[in-house]
Amino acid sequence: MKAKIIDGKAIAATIREEIRQDVARMREAHGRVPGLATVLVGARKDSETYVRMKKKACAEAGIESFGHELPGDISQEDLLAVVKGLNADPAVHGILVQLPLPDHIDDEAILAAISLEKDVDGFHPLNIGRLSMKRRDPLFVPCTPKGCIELLDRSGIEISGRNAVVLGRSNIVGLPVAMLLLHRNATLTVCHSRTADLPAMVRQADILVAAVGRPEMVRGDWIKPGAAVIDVGVNAVDDADDPRGYRLVGDVAFDEAREVAGAITPVPGGVGPMTIAMLLRNTTDAAARALDRG
Ligand code: GUN
Repeated sequence: MKAKIIDGKAIAATIREEIRQDVARMREAHGRVPGLATVLVGARKDSETYVRMKKKACAEAGIESFGHELPGDISQEDLLAVVKGLNADPAVHGILVQLPLPDHIDDEAILAAISLEKDVDGFHPLNIGRLSMKRRDPLFVPCTPKGCIELLDRSGIEISGRNAVVLGRSNIVGLPVAMLLLHRNATLTVCHSRTADLPAMVRQADILVAAVGRPEMVRGDWIKPGAAVIDVGVNAVDDADDPRGYRLVGDVAFDEAREVAGAITPVPGGVGPMTIAMLLRNTTDAAARALDRG
């Protein structure tokens, strides 16, 4: 039996419509809308694309966005000054510093400078620290991991008591999604490049989250029949048949895995659209909290 396709694009569209309505209600009740500041340092093509998509999504939801495009050779001090200015700006409810930052910048110091109440990416060390402890609610949870959980929830996939395997241990996805699964009472295994017999570990997974950035590494015969597969990978591979000369594939060999899995996200159109929807959610929640504080 073929797996159910988890349509992240459709689920994200539903969430974005929910947010658009929340924003409209906020405008009506308070005469205010959420504001997101985006900070882009340098000229990485992928980062430019992500920030452009985030700003466009804000506009569609009625969220104001403030773009800060800064030169790649900006000093640590000047970048810190930009973040502090945004912390002090009452029109800005959320601050997103697009990662990765150039090598000469200490990214942890920059992320730590973001006001906790405006940390809509959830990467502030205190929010990450709270995420890593029991019963210490972070103010915000990182967007891609939160989107993975939302996909499972909105697809009716039970997490509690099931074997979850996370492939990858990055700060942006692998580690935080692992913590979220644990908080939801999954039995958790985190696999990485040194894991012995990866296929055998992955075969234990009722829920697999693949976030390693290796094109189609997970084969169909690694998947437990009926498992839920969340593929976070976005990898460009050469494809002479595609007008762009490349196509995007996930970390999972989709055509093989869909023959075995119970449910699976496609790439593109799975996790990707959820990251932006969760950013809009966090920004709107940040604005609601700020309005509550008066
Ligand atoms: N780079 C890759 N993913 C992300 C993300 O979710 N947020 C930010 N700020 N940078 C990223």
